[in-house]
Amino acid sequence: MHNSLIINKKNKTIHLCLGYLKTFTQPNRMATAKTAAKTATKKTGNTGKMENSEFHEFFIDELKDIYWAEKHLVKALPKMKKAATSEGLASAFGKHTSETQEHIATLEEVFNLLGEKAAAKKCDAMAGLLEEADSIIEDTEKGTMVRDAGLILAAQKVEHYEIATYGTLRVFAESMGHDDVVTLLTKTLDNEKATDLALTEIAVGAVNAQAAEE
Ligand SMILES: [Fe+2]
Ligand SMILES: [Fe+2]
Repeated sequence: MHNSLIINKKNKTIHLCLGYLKTFTQPNRMATAKTAAKTATKKTGNTGKMENSEFHEFFIDELKDIYWAEKHLVKALPKMKKAATSEGLASAFGKHTSETQEHIATLEEVFNLLGEKAAAKKCDAMAGLLEEADSIIEDTEKGTMVRDAGLILAAQKVEHYEIATYGTLRVFAESMGHDDVVTLLTKTLDNEKATDLALTEIAVGAVNAQAAEE
């Protein structure tokens, strides 16, 4: 009886892995799916009570992805602050640096609540967005408002990525009944949305008009 359960779980894992291979063609997604499937098997074997373990492990993998993203963003924001022309944008980047530190701490709390070790998994999307921010700094002249307009564009792409991620992860947590995690993810999500709005206000309030006159 016990053996047949393991065989069933194994079959389920292989099926899941193939399903993901069809859905995700990027190498990192394949690696994520394989790791998730492997861990799912292990977890089920250890505890025997994680009914929806594939979904749970996928959720954990995505938390690791955004954890990596936040940890790298917190290093990039001070560079963006230094590159900014206007005081308003520099101070917005400064403010969001400390808020991003809070997002990292919040994710660590989430991992802790879920009984998981906080671990980062490379997020190719954030790596690309931060590379784009670097290019904007390289391609624009120091001390110009065009640079600020470009930095706002780069930062808003980052915020929108975070909003999409936290929005989805919050719904995942809701559907799994992790109410404490939902509260924590909502707090971060609200801050990302507020940051996006603040950036729009800086752009519309002064930066874009001044950039147009340069
Ligand atoms: Fe964040
Ligand atoms: Fe953010």
